[in-house]
Amino acid sequence: MYTLGINAVYHDCSACLVKDGKVLAAAEEERFTRIKHGKRPLPFTTWQLPFHAIDYCLKEAGIGLADVDHVAYSYDPKLLLGDHADDVTITLPLEPSRHPGRGWLSPWDPLFLSYVTNAPRQLASGAPHHLQERFQGVSHEGPFQWHFVDHHFAHEASAFLASPFEEAAVLTMDGRGEAATTSYGMFEKGSYRRIKQVNLPHSLGLLYEEVTTYLGFLHSSDEYKVMALASYGAPVHAWLFREVVQYKGNGEYRLKCVKWEELLGPGRKRGEEFTKPHMDIARSLQVVLEEVALKMAGWLHEQTGAENLCMAGGVALNCVMNARIRDHGPFRNVWVQPAAGDAGTALGAALWTDRQQSGRTDRRWRMDHAFLGPAYDDAAIEEFLQQAKLRYRRVDNIAEAAADLLAQNQVLGWFQGRMEFGPRALGARSILASPIDPAMQAHLNLIKDREDFRPVAPVVLEEDVAEWFVNGSIAPFMLFIFDVRPDRADRIPAVRHVDGTARVQTINREQNATYYDLLQAFKERTGVPVLINTSFNTRGEPVVCTPRDAVESYLTTPLDALAIGSFILEKQKP
Ligand SMILES: [Fe+2]
Repeated sequence: MYTLGINAVYHDCSACLVKDGKVLAAAEEERFTRIKHGKRPLPFTTWQLPFHAIDYCLKEAGIGLADVDHVAYSYDPKLLLGDHADDVTITLPLEPSRHPGRGWLSPWDPLFLSYVTNAPRQLASGAPHHLQERFQGVSHEGPFQWHFVDHHFAHEASAFLASPFEEAAVLTMDGRGEAATTSYGMFEKGSYRRIKQVNLPHSLGLLYEEVTTYLGFLHSSDEYKVMALASYGAPVHAWLFREVVQYKGNGEYRLKCVKWEELLGPGRKRGEEFTKPHMDIARSLQVVLEEVALKMAGWLHEQTGAENLCMAGGVALNCVMNARIRDHGPFRNVWVQPAAGDAGTALGAALWTDRQQSGRTDRRWRMDHAFLGPAYDDAAIEEFLQQAKLRYRRVDNIAEAAADLLAQNQVLGWFQGRMEFGPRALGARSILASPIDPAMQAHLNLIKDREDFRPVAPVVLEEDVAEWFVNGSIAPFMLFIFDVRPDRADRIPAVRHVDGTARVQTINREQNATYYDLLQAFKERTGVPVLINTSFNTRGEPVVCTPRDAVESYLTTPLDALAIGSFILEKQKP
């Protein structure tokens, strides 16, 4: 039984294919179309489906859409249609200011909901011309059966059905779903119950988005930059943020509607310099987010008594908050699903629908790694390299050859195996460098055309994590920070952020043998089982997907070398 999960309603559109309880493939649309986040989260773009990601998933399984039994779409329009649920028509505004907007939260809701409701029709007949082969033989009525899945439920399922736990409390936080912005639940004995939800307009995700905009970044995209900026500031406005977001007890919080310019003065314009006041605002926001999240986690623990917590939703990409919950919260184990943002709802919707339709409650899959995207074998890579008339050499052992270059302080594009699902590059589409040189962070930010304050993150052999990071533990998805051990700090200065932390990825050989072997080979050469791992892209670009993307990025940036499949490309020294 094949179940296709689709996230399309806002941004980070994605697809996921599940067969009999196991995930075969998952990918974000942005990697194929090269448009970051796939699209902007606006009512006018809701009709767009992630056709390229769907096509890839079908291709991976060797099937067409006509072979799919169930399609699970991670948003349920019925939750918003209210009294209009049985209407055949709803009135669309041409001029929203004069639209009567009967019962709608936004004048654009009718347009938005019409697009969502008609998504099956769009799937059946809207595929772009060049992809039509795998979309033949279907109508909006099937043969697939269509399922609308509550957005937050899709986030929740993406956590508890992917996590390593058989029992866990579940916490999700994002900008918004149909109405919910936060949810609490418990997964035990094979079933799930939602305990509570917090609804719009109270949203920690939207709060973070607003401040992201105020600080001159792109909301629904650059929130992680605000988190990085926060490390440089002091929480001097924390008192003010505590007035804006008030934890009310019992898992509930309230957000005051405020104008940030009135409270904090003019915002930063895009492109303007970062000053201490910007950093202080970012820090104040971050501190209060962590305080509230910790209280929420505490309440959830009281309700469930669970040992394990799993999280998803865009706010769960905040690895500083996650570490605070790990270190100061009541749960023994905390696991965050790596595609925690909306992309992961395709995974949750598909896994849940598969489970419901099959009637099976046993777990047949868990997310031990995120390598769920397309791979290219050596034959395909070499054909492309030859076609492009590029000079390259084939090596017997790519890990050993790449480690030689990294030990010589070369910066390397690393393109190996199946692409990652989720926003983090985890060793399939990464830029790698030695962490030993203190100048490497600034050098990488230059290579990637990134803001100076942005840290770069380490990957470390799983067995060595505690040797290099304080209370180091398994963290395969780069979603938790750790303090660098003071006695090791001078060996890996490039990955130590200004506050002494690092956003760590651990790797074992089962997750990715080539990547693991590379770390081992680097350790043999330098005594350091750590590399810098940053995503293989430049500012504003999605992570590379194909050999062509990798080569284009390599040739147009100051990268020294590219390790792609069994091949090494090196630039001539001037
Ligand atoms: Fe979401």
